[in-house]
Amino acid sequence: MSKQQFGVIGLAVMGENLALNIERHGFSVAVYNRTAQKTDAFMAERAKGKNIKATYTLSEFVASLEQPRKILLMIQAGKPVDIVISELKPLLEPGDIIIDGGNSHFKDTARREKELAAISLRFIGLGVSGGEYGALMGPSLMPGGHPSAYQEVEPIVTKIAAQVEDGPCVTYLGPDGSGHYVKMVHNGIEYGNMQLIAEAYDLLKNGLELHPEHLHQIFSEWNATDELNSYLMEITAEILERVDTESGSFLIDVIQDDAEQKGTGRWTVMEALELGVPIPTIAAAVTARVLSSFKEERQIAAETLNGSGPRRYEGDSQALINKLRDALYCAQICSYAEGMELLDGGSKAYNFGLNLSEVARIWKGGCIIRAKCLNDIQAAFRQNPGLMNLLLAPQFKQKLLDRLSAWREVVAVMMELDIPAPAFAASLTYFNSYRRARLPQNLTQAQRDYFGAHTYHRIDKSGVFHTEWAALTEETSLQTGTTD
Ligand code: 6PG
Repeated sequence: MSKQQFGVIGLAVMGENLALNIERHGFSVAVYNRTAQKTDAFMAERAKGKNIKATYTLSEFVASLEQPRKILLMIQAGKPVDIVISELKPLLEPGDIIIDGGNSHFKDTARREKELAAISLRFIGLGVSGGEYGALMGPSLMPGGHPSAYQEVEPIVTKIAAQVEDGPCVTYLGPDGSGHYVKMVHNGIEYGNMQLIAEAYDLLKNGLELHPEHLHQIFSEWNATDELNSYLMEITAEILERVDTESGSFLIDVIQDDAEQKGTGRWTVMEALELGVPIPTIAAAVTARVLSSFKEERQIAAETLNGSGPRRYEGDSQALINKLRDALYCAQICSYAEGMELLDGGSKAYNFGLNLSEVARIWKGGCIIRAKCLNDIQAAFRQNPGLMNLLLAPQFKQKLLDRLSAWREVVAVMMELDIPAPAFAASLTYFNSYRRARLPQNLTQAQRDYFGAHTYHRIDKSGVFHTEWAALTEETSLQTGTTD
């Protein structure tokens, strides 16, 4: 009996859709799910009549695959991945390939790759973006692992990925955890962009008191521009016009305002802090989600501290809407710039050898952060692979400076109206800090040296310096309250 070319373990939404996508492109598939009912339901409905073979034990699943076996795990990240790998290990043979398509932490991926390589099994950490629809019709795929493993799956992944004018949205990214690293940072940017859109919505809705239909129209118009065209902008416009069949209200108005997160945004921020790469817009977005989840506390604080609440903007509404559009462009470029900086930092720290232009290219289709501006990001890193920061690229420099006064004004207006602007303010501050040759951290250094003799550098000569800022007597310690 002929064997199947590809195996998928895990038939939740993503697993099912990827299995169907792979089969649609002419590859035979074997599937396995821990609960047999799920497999049966899939076979009876969506997989009916397709070249998909159901299996009910892992050994039956493994035996049904041609060698070297290519097995995609679409299961919950974390412990479950280790459990399934340990169950698969004794059944596999040297050269077989396990692909983890979940949102696993890149360090787990690196560990698993090493452990499996020691027993001659190959492992690919595959970032998959695009949600349910992307998985079925063409996701953006971010694979990392041994190049020989990628070569084996390349004919499949290049077919199932989203296709853009310059190729499929997949490429070999680098060794061990690099694919999941790129996916993690993708999600960080996703958080940043989503938060910025939410803040823009807040200003339009609460500062300008616009009706959802008008909001829909504005986001649709913005989506039609080269600067702001993106998947997130497109779905925002659609979301804003949806009416709730139950209440008759706009659905957006009945959705609870506490944002959840599965963890990739938080990992991005933790990683950035670890490596010392500034990503303030993304960090603000993660914090905004956390704060939003303090719903009960916010309700109490709204009564105690709110005063008049967000105020209405009294100026020229259309002029502010135009400025907001420009500010949103600048702030989103910061979100991408921060993400690319972190990719560069991670690539250097872990020897991933990432090609940032290629990363931008594979994000142009299929994924959640796909946007027209990725053409410029791709070009910026293609022209200058050693680019220090996206903000300096000719594709962006002048555009940002031309829109700076709008960006500044939007942040000022939001502060004035008591409308929180964590990501907008963080992005503007990032831009302004980055383009300052001298920041006030000379004072920070002086303070550190004062209380801890931590030393400082001077602007006029090289070396390390310390100043005796105060005579160290018992009396001064007591006066300043120091205990050490
Ligand atoms: C994607 C998404 C996806 C992510 C969900 C939920 O690229 O398709 O990033 O992988 O898991 O969007 O993420 P949060 O629960 O963290 O918002």
